[in-house]
Amino acid sequence: MRIGVFDSGVGGLTVLKSLYEKYPNNEYYYIADSKNLPYGEKTKEELFSYASRIIDYFILQDIKLIVIGCNTICSTVYKDLENKYKDITFIGVIDATVDLFLKSNKKNVLVIATTNTIKSNKYETKIKCKNNNIIVHNLATPNLVPLIENDLDTTKEINNILSNYKDIDSIILGCTHYKLIEDKISSNITCIDSSTGVINVINKYINNSINNIKIYTTGNKEEFNKICKRIMNINGEKLDI
Ligand code: DGL
Repeated sequence: MRIGVFDSGVGGLTVLKSLYEKYPNNEYYYIADSKNLPYGEKTKEELFSYASRIIDYFILQDIKLIVIGCNTICSTVYKDLENKYKDITFIGVIDATVDLFLKSNKKNVLVIATTNTIKSNKYETKIKCKNNNIIVHNLATPNLVPLIENDLDTTKEINNILSNYKDIDSIILGCTHYKLIEDKISSNITCIDSSTGVINVINKYINNSINNIKIYTTGNKEEFNKICKRIMNINGEKLDI
């Protein structure tokens, strides 16, 4: 089965990696919209247009199942995309991540995510809807994506964040980029990330057939591949869309 996955940059590769490890016998296309990165503070109109461009490309490749490996897109224009592309099956990361969090039975969680995702309040709303006793803290952490994309150290940033939330028992990494810095977070705190949740959800949609993977960036190929190679062990190609 042919599956499209996309994000603003290297973050969604963490989702692609989980999918590929769990279901290797499928054909994956990945697009990093690196030229428009970061998505975190873009307007809804911009995000809808970026996502549409990518989805149109996937449709040309005969892809009908698309994993949106980006919390920012999922928290802002997911419904608009579903309404526009009625023949496409979309899988988003937010519901999958919330389901995984609820299974952890944690009671005091910090959600870190982009400004758009935090503003949408999607995580808190969905969690509270299932269990109103859970304490949810929300924090926009817009500095992290540029640091991660540029392969810079995030230790100071993470320590600053954690020093303000001493009582939490868990963190939702509400941006797919943050899985790449999970090792900076103390092992006493349970980390819940989008890449793991998605593999539980996609199961019912796929039939394992072909084994192939294609990765593209709309930005600078060399820069992108520094991190892509480390995560996926293959390089991406430049895509002009
Ligand atoms: N990785 C994305 C997310 O999950 C977007 C990060 C960004 O471009 O700001 O929200």
